[in-house]
Amino acid sequence: MMALVMAATMTASSFQIGEKDFLLAGKPIQIRCGEVHFARVPREYWRHRLQLCKAMGLNSVCAYLFWNFHEYEQGRYDWSGQADAAEFCRIAQQEGLWVILRPGPYACAEWDGGGLPWWLLKNPKIQLRSQDPAFLAPATAWLKEVGRVLGPLQVTRGGPILMVQVENEYGSYGSDAGYMGSIRQGLLDAGFDVPLFGCNPPGDLKKGLRSDLFQVVNFGTDPASGFKALREIQPTGPLMCGEFYPAWFDTWGAPHHRGNAQRYLTDLEYMVKHGASFSIYMAHGGTTFGMWSGADRPFKPDTSSYDYDAPISEAGWVTEKFWATRKLLGGTTQPPPANPVASIPAFTLTECASIFDNLPVPIEDTEPRCMEAYDQGRGCILYRTTVPAGRETTMRFEQVHDFAWVFLDGKPIGEMDRRTRRFHFKLPARAKSARLDILVEAMGHVNFGQEVHDRKGLRGNPGKWLVYRLDGVKPNWKVGKASGPAFWRGTFNVDKPADTFLDLRAWGKGVVWVNGHCLARFWNIGPTQTAYVPGPWLRAGTNEVVILDLLGPSQPVLAGLDKPILDQLRPELDFARTSKGRLTLNDPIHTGAFTSGPEVQEVRLAAQGRQFCIETLNAHDGQPFAAIAELDLLDPAGHSIPHTEWTIAYVDSEELIAEDGSAANAINGQAASHWHTARTQEQPGHPHRLVIDLGAPASIGGFRYTPRAGSNVPGRIKDYRVYVGSTLVKESNE
Ligand code: GLA
Repeated sequence: MMALVMAATMTASSFQIGEKDFLLAGKPIQIRCGEVHFARVPREYWRHRLQLCKAMGLNSVCAYLFWNFHEYEQGRYDWSGQADAAEFCRIAQQEGLWVILRPGPYACAEWDGGGLPWWLLKNPKIQLRSQDPAFLAPATAWLKEVGRVLGPLQVTRGGPILMVQVENEYGSYGSDAGYMGSIRQGLLDAGFDVPLFGCNPPGDLKKGLRSDLFQVVNFGTDPASGFKALREIQPTGPLMCGEFYPAWFDTWGAPHHRGNAQRYLTDLEYMVKHGASFSIYMAHGGTTFGMWSGADRPFKPDTSSYDYDAPISEAGWVTEKFWATRKLLGGTTQPPPANPVASIPAFTLTECASIFDNLPVPIEDTEPRCMEAYDQGRGCILYRTTVPAGRETTMRFEQVHDFAWVFLDGKPIGEMDRRTRRFHFKLPARAKSARLDILVEAMGHVNFGQEVHDRKGLRGNPGKWLVYRLDGVKPNWKVGKASGPAFWRGTFNVDKPADTFLDLRAWGKGVVWVNGHCLARFWNIGPTQTAYVPGPWLRAGTNEVVILDLLGPSQPVLAGLDKPILDQLRPELDFARTSKGRLTLNDPIHTGAFTSGPEVQEVRLAAQGRQFCIETLNAHDGQPFAAIAELDLLDPAGHSIPHTEWTIAYVDSEELIAEDGSAANAINGQAASHWHTARTQEQPGHPHRLVIDLGAPASIGGFRYTPRAGSNVPGRIKDYRVYVGSTLVKESNE
C-alpha cells in the first residue's frame, strides 16, 4: 500500500534543462544522485539498497545498462531476473527516487569490455565505438530494444526516468562528433523524449562535442576546476558532475582503494552549496558477479569486489561516508537494517576433476586464433600441439590474452603473462616428440581506451593445433585430490540463509560458484581474499560449492567469514617474473619546468626511440614527492600515440600502502588516478624516474603531462628532464 502511495507522489509531467537549472514540472531541482548498478546487486536486495540511497538523502539513482549483460548471445535479449532493468526502475520510483539511465552502447564501469558484447570481436576489422556499420547496426538495434523496454518508464509517461546518457566519456576515446550524433539519433529513434546528455572528464570535454547535446563533467576532486572546464564549453545551463568519485575500484595485485572521507565531504558540500547537481559514483558498488569484471590498462584485471569504498559497502552496510552524506544532504527516511550475516565453519571440498581429464571435443585448426573466433566469450581455452624432438629453445607467441600455463607431456614448464608482456617460454630439450598444452585464461575484456578491441587467447605459431573450449565443461567428479588446473566440489550446511564471505585464502587463482550462481573470480595475490555470498542465494540445508582453480589450493578448504577481506595483498605468491630493470640514462633530450596548476601541459620535442623517461628534479611545494595523473606521448603531428603496447619499464618509487600510487596509473588514460612516489614508510627524494616502454620504436613529437588533480596537492612537478632511447632500461633477468 505504502509503495503505491509513494508511486503516486513520484510522477511529474515533464523534466527539462533550463537556462540555469534542471526543471521538474517547471520547478528547479538539484539532482542529488547516486550510482547503483542493478547487475552488481542481488535482485532480492535491490529495494534494500535503494532505500539506503533514499535514506542517505539522494533524490535519484543513476544506472548503467551493460549491453553484453542483456545480449550475451547476438540477437537474444535477456531482461529476466538480475537483468530486469524495468523492475529496478519501478522499485526506485516506489522508493521515491528518480532514475538517470545510461544505456551505452559503451559504459566502461570496470565491466567486461565496458559492456560491449564479445561477439562484436568475431569481426577482425570492426572499429568499436565508431561509425563503422559493423558496430553501429548492432548498437542501434540495442538502443531500440532499450527504448522498447524502458521507454514507457520515462517521466513523460509517468515513470521515473528523467534523462538518458549518450555513450560514455567518449572524449577519452575519440573525437568524432558524427559518431556521437549517430548514437544520439539512435536514442531518439528508440522513442526517448526526455533530455539526452553526454559526460566527460574535464580534459576531454571538447572532444566529439556537439551543440545539440547537453554536457556534464566527471571528476573525483576539485569541483571548482571541473565546473570551470564545463563552463568553457557550455556557458549556460545547470552544472552537474556526472560521476563524482568517493574512492576508486580495485585491480588484482594493487592495494585496495580507500577514498579520503574528508576530501569527499568537502567537495560534496561545495556542490551542494553552489546548487550543482551530482551523481556519486558509486553510492553502492556491490559485486561484479560471475566473470563480468573488466580490466584496466595497461593490462590490470579488475577484482570482483566492487566495494569502491563507497558510502554503502559491498554487502549493503552503512559506512562513515554514508552517515556524513546523510547529514550533509539532510536525509529524512531511516536506513533499513543491514541484512543478516553468518559465518560458516571450515569444510573440505572432497571431489575434484582435472581439466585435462575433462576436455570436450576439440576444434582442429592450422594456427591458434583468438577465443572469440571459436565462438567463446569468456573463461579458459586450451591449445594443444605436438613438438618434434629437439634442443632447448625459446618459443614465442605474438599475443597471449591474458595468462597461459604451459605443459609438456603433462608436466608444467612455464607460464606467459600479459601484464609483463611475457609472450614466450623455454621449451626444454626433447629426445622424442612431445605433447605441448597451453592453457589460456581470459580475464575480463579491457573496458577502457582502444584496448577494448581485446581479443582473448593465443596468436602466433601456425601448425597443427587442437583447440578445446573450456567454457561450460561438465566435470566428471572423483573423490580425492587433483594437482594442477582442476575443478573442486564440496557441500556445506546452513541453518538459516544469511550473507557470508567465502574465505579463499587457501586457493590459487580461478572462479567460484555457489548453488549454480557464478560468484566471483579469486586470486591469492589479493587485495580481495573473500567472495561475497548473498544470503538469498543460499538455502537452509545443503549447499554446493564448485571451484575452478588453475594453480591449485594449498588445502582444499573453505569457510564463510562474517566480514570481507578486501585489503590483503600477497605479492610473494605472484607467479609474475618482475624485474625492476637496470636504468642507464644517456643525455637528456629535453629539460624544462612545469607550471604549478592543475592544467594539462603540452611540450613539443623531436626524438626517436622505444623508451621514454621523465625525470623529476623537484616539486613546486619543495617536498620529496612526484605525482603524475597522465603522461601522453605525441607523434610528430601532435596526435596521441596509442597506448596499446605500453608497459612501465622502470619506476624508482611508488606508494602502495596508503593509496594505489602505482606507476601504471600514469598511463591508464584516467586522470582521476595517479602515480605517486612512496610516502608512507620511506620518502625517497628527487630525482624520480618513470620509464615507459612503447613496445616498439616510435617517432616522438612531444608529450602531454596531466598533473595530479586537486588544489594544493603534493607531487606537482616543477623542473624535469626527458630521456628517449631504446635501451634506457635493460631487463635484469629473462
Ligand atoms: C569512468 C567511467 C566509469 C568508471 C569510472 C571509474 O569515469 O565513466 O564508467 O569506469 O571511470 O570507476
